[in-house]
Amino acid sequence: MSRREEARQVLRANDRGGYTVPTDRLYPFQWNWDSAFVAMGFATFDPARAWSEIEWLLRGQWEDGLIPQIVFHAPSDDYFPGPEVWGVGRSPPTSGITQPPVLATAARRVLAAAAHEEGEARMAAIYPRLRDNHRWWAAARDPHGTGLVATLHPWETGMDNSPAWDRALDRVPTATRTDIRRRDTGHVDPAFRPRAIDYQRFIHLVEVFCDTGWDPARMLAASPFRVADVGTNAILLRAEQDLLDLAIRFGTPEEAAEIAGRIARMEAALERLWDGRLSHYLARDLIAGEPIPLRGSAGFLPLFAGQARHAAELAERLEEWGRSVRALVPSTDPGHPLFEPLRYWRGPVWAVVNWMIAEGLRRCGQEAMADRVAGDTRGLIAAEGFSEYFDPLTGQGIGGGTFSWTAAIWLLLEGEEA
Ligand code: DGY
Repeated sequence: MSRREEARQVLRANDRGGYTVPTDRLYPFQWNWDSAFVAMGFATFDPARAWSEIEWLLRGQWEDGLIPQIVFHAPSDDYFPGPEVWGVGRSPPTSGITQPPVLATAARRVLAAAAHEEGEARMAAIYPRLRDNHRWWAAARDPHGTGLVATLHPWETGMDNSPAWDRALDRVPTATRTDIRRRDTGHVDPAFRPRAIDYQRFIHLVEVFCDTGWDPARMLAASPFRVADVGTNAILLRAEQDLLDLAIRFGTPEEAAEIAGRIARMEAALERLWDGRLSHYLARDLIAGEPIPLRGSAGFLPLFAGQARHAAELAERLEEWGRSVRALVPSTDPGHPLFEPLRYWRGPVWAVVNWMIAEGLRRCGQEAMADRVAGDTRGLIAAEGFSEYFDPLTGQGIGGGTFSWTAAIWLLLEGEEA
């Protein structure tokens, strides 16, 4: 069977009747940014199913516009923390935090793959939900209009245990009232996963938010973890650009102007995350009020939002990293003492991040490096299958297997090659 057919089969096997789980058992619910990539993957061969992925995710959207990180459509004992720990009191149950907002980018791409009448109608129904979600980001996470949104939990960045969060997390107490019964380490090697102390802090944060009644302003004020993540901000800027295109077609001129205003603010603010000394975009610890001096794969994502000013330097950085790893792009600078090639977001290569970086390099005129990153990604998947992530030093596939978003990226990269 061809890899393409295998990739389609992974998506079909992880289908739970309209939405997709990231992988069986390890992640038995619907995840926000996973589903955005999955929708783009489905769009390459089954656009109707791609729309359904997005529509199911939006069933979990809150009235204030929040699109949660997890929607618990059906019960499962395979994952911790489940709905009872989040305690948001909603139906369907959801978590109470969010994830990198790839959704408007995905919706625009699904529409482009199937711009027939049905696609137009489904997009028209979804557009107001995306508009409200971007308004939520601005109101809940950047109430003073700085142009940078705050993330309040490492899970919101999608890069849960990145060493970039170590110092900011030190501030988070490890005490919890919840009995921490992890399931992930029963499904995959604990050496590939966050440590026990990380989970204590992750759950402490959930309890702090729960105690605010999930009120956005109180969460922002109470959180002992508050960072301006380069990845989230770059992905949001890109999503705003895609939303602007959708607003012109499905919204009003006032909405388009509102989005354009946010884009201008965000572009200027993202540029302030550039660090001349480390020649990289760096996240900012909003509590300490200082940059986090660690180069990670998120630092390349402003390219995905078309921020081309430092494209040549970033391509050089990738060239340099490429000399010490077998496959780009390690999630952490491979020359940094905190680089761990096997542990989740502390070193491994992730296909979705690679796809965004390759797309960004291309958008910013760095074709050769875009080809290299895309080629490395294809090579990893061709050799190892649809793993959750890959060891950059050996290329070995690690974490969970038969992963939906890795399959989706295979389909996207194949489409771009054709
Ligand atoms: C987990 O549970 O590992 C996820 O990354 C949270 O989104």
